[in-house]
Amino acid sequence: MASINSNYLKLKAGYLFPEIARRVRAFAENHPDAASNIIRCGIGDVTEPLPTAAINALKKATDELGDRATFRGYGPEQGYDFLRAAIAENDYRAKGVFVTDNEVFVSDGSKCDTANILDILGDDNIIAVADPVYPVYVDTNVMAGHTGNSDDSGRYEGFVYLPCTRENGFVAAPPSQQVDVAYLCFPNNPTGAVATKAQLKEWVDYALKNDTLLLFDAAYSDYIQDPELPRSIYEIEGARDCAIEFRSYSKSGGFTGVRCAYTIVPETVMGRTESGGRYPFHPLWSRRSSTKFNGVSYPIQRAAEALYSSEGKAEVSALVEHYMGNAAILRDAAREAGLEVYGGEHAPYIWIAAPSGLTSWDVFDKMLLDANVVITPGSGFGSNGEGFFRVSAFNSRDNALEVAQRIKNVKW
Ligand code: MLT
Repeated sequence: MASINSNYLKLKAGYLFPEIARRVRAFAENHPDAASNIIRCGIGDVTEPLPTAAINALKKATDELGDRATFRGYGPEQGYDFLRAAIAENDYRAKGVFVTDNEVFVSDGSKCDTANILDILGDDNIIAVADPVYPVYVDTNVMAGHTGNSDDSGRYEGFVYLPCTRENGFVAAPPSQQVDVAYLCFPNNPTGAVATKAQLKEWVDYALKNDTLLLFDAAYSDYIQDPELPRSIYEIEGARDCAIEFRSYSKSGGFTGVRCAYTIVPETVMGRTESGGRYPFHPLWSRRSSTKFNGVSYPIQRAAEALYSSEGKAEVSALVEHYMGNAAILRDAAREAGLEVYGGEHAPYIWIAAPSGLTSWDVFDKMLLDANVVITPGSGFGSNGEGFFRVSAFNSRDNALEVAQRIKNVKW
């Protein structure tokens, strides 16, 4: 009989979002009258149609595949040159940030990449994660056997947890001890907090001093409204020697169902070999892609490339503006309802303190029952998320306005 990966048995519950979907389904079955009234502000999934530039590129590329003269089979596992060049040029070099085309790896998602990156890391690293945190960073390390069991609060033995609280504005400073790997996510999921250049510099300085690899998840970078705030870790001097960056078209181009993202692995980021030498991560990630991945499909990569056309850029800006408009509506409504509100200014997530006496899951139940609105309980993101809940701004304008009204109507 094949043995199982018993590390999976250490996982606390189902993955957060399927668990929420399960509870919403159960509620709808038990309350059929309310079912059609439910509005989802739980998982951050986009609602607006794809940019026309992307649709046109998708159609054209699909037609190419239907013609013998322009047909393509397997593509390069690391991504087509046209997209790698468009990314390096538009998202980095045009903004004064040095990234080469060869350091860009196109993939089908940042969730997958932040999970898969563990393939090229050793099993003996000391790993720091924020609390609350995007659950993928934690669960994938548990699955890989990098932790012990969890305690009653849900924290796993072996991680260095970095509390993100009201007091530090939900941006953790580097720890006092040395860690080998630290996950950073800005704009942050779930709190909506964003790090300043000074705060990221503290992290880069720490990483260079302590030989720490920073895994910088910038999936929401397009949501940053203030040009003074850093969108990329590579805006900080020295980051090319210590950081890998993850970016996605899911939330900027509305690609959650289309699937395209990319990861930057600078050729200058090194890891430790068993014999204590230094070795670059870049060839390892490239090798991993060649062996385990056949690349993102050609039409999808053409669609991603089209987001960099002038029409595409304008459409991406309009999408971000739409969701940030929702965020402002939801934030104001929560404040009017007397709630303590964070985030939503440079991120599509609003992080709200549960009224006193209520746990995060109490708020989830109350919002579902009293307002027929699905939120995400903060405790699902870690023990420091207890006492908070997250409202996603990914919705139509009508739904955002309706949710705002319902939040104000709830008797807290
Ligand atoms: C979320 O709601 O946190 C996101 O949709 C998760 C993701 O992007 O994978």
